[in-house]
Amino acid sequence: MSESSAAAAEAVAARFEELYGSAPDGVWAAPGRVNLIGEHTDYNDGFVMPFALPHTAVAAVSRRDDGVLRLHSADIGGPVVELTVDGLVPESDKRWTAYPAGVVWALREAGHAVVTGADIHLASTVPAGAGLSSSAALEVVVALALNDLFGLGLRGWQLARLSQRAENVYVGAPVGIMDQTASACCEAGHALFLDTRDLSQRQIPFDLAAEGMRLLVVDTQVKHSHSEGEYGKRREGCEKGAALLGVDALRDVPHEDLDAALARLGDDEEVRRLVRHVVTEDHRVEQVVSLLESGDTRAIGPLLIEGHASLRDDFRVSCPELDLVVDTAVTAGALGARMTGGGFGGSAIVLTEEADVPAVTKAVEEAFATAGFKTPRVFEAVPSAGARRVR
Ligand code: GLA
Repeated sequence: MSESSAAAAEAVAARFEELYGSAPDGVWAAPGRVNLIGEHTDYNDGFVMPFALPHTAVAAVSRRDDGVLRLHSADIGGPVVELTVDGLVPESDKRWTAYPAGVVWALREAGHAVVTGADIHLASTVPAGAGLSSSAALEVVVALALNDLFGLGLRGWQLARLSQRAENVYVGAPVGIMDQTASACCEAGHALFLDTRDLSQRQIPFDLAAEGMRLLVVDTQVKHSHSEGEYGKRREGCEKGAALLGVDALRDVPHEDLDAALARLGDDEEVRRLVRHVVTEDHRVEQVVSLLESGDTRAIGPLLIEGHASLRDDFRVSCPELDLVVDTAVTAGALGARMTGGGFGGSAIVLTEEADVPAVTKAVEEAFATAGFKTPRVFEAVPSAGARRVR
């Protein structure tokens, strides 16, 4: 553990003690993520390749055995919120508390009746609304803490599934499984190649610094939200495509059969676009994996750019700010760039030679200023550890 994360754990534990009157049973951390490639494929049973950020949600937690759940967030402030584990009702809570409470609900609903309450204090460094999975980090850190404190013995992928269920059913956002699995299962120095159909995983070494490259995250500061309808509409369109093609999920359309599949979809232009994105994107993930595994990291750049074009033109989830990051970065010499996460705002990633970082950053900042957009937040992303106990 780095000194700064040890200090963060200390601070969260100290605040817990102030709020609840005694030291926490433990402190846990779960990261946000960026996705290198494989966007809007996870709810199509496809492939994704996220890696964990150094930014984490940290939770100080003590178990309770009296049915009471007390929640507090350093980021939101306000008084401690007190709920009862028996009184948790899906979609009844529109506040931040729905994420941790949803996890308690999902655990109990899955048969873990031993989860009989907790005192929780949370503090997160994952930027909210930036498409970097701040919600998944909150869910997973709570799931891991309760797993440890109540001795549930659940594995990372199981905590991810329960966290996703909390978000789908309790919060009411129809997200896929990528973000929660990334937060629960990523490893430092690696990207996670995940098959979202069966959650089989491969850790792919991804050490850009060793090869003289960097990956920048550009948070456009345009807030996005999944509970709003566009994400759900894309998901429904994909399901319609799968039904029309007679497959369980779009993952089952092989890349070499894409033209034939598109021809069978006739003149349903929207479904054709969605299908084309998902099938080509799954293929891009497989290409990126084989390039990385053969040590040809720079060659992934064009695939990132292609992936962005597909999200912009076919899937239509980009926005002018994200497009501007990608176009400007590439013109300024970056190896590749794309939006990351659900889209409609949030963040883009930029793969660049280390020597070009200042020029690329400056070009993006200037282009935003010229366009009259908010100043973007640019930082370097180093593949970091997944969820863990820190104290
Ligand atoms: C959001 C969702 C994920 C995934 C991405 C798009 O981050 O939470 O499940 O669908 O969008 O790839």
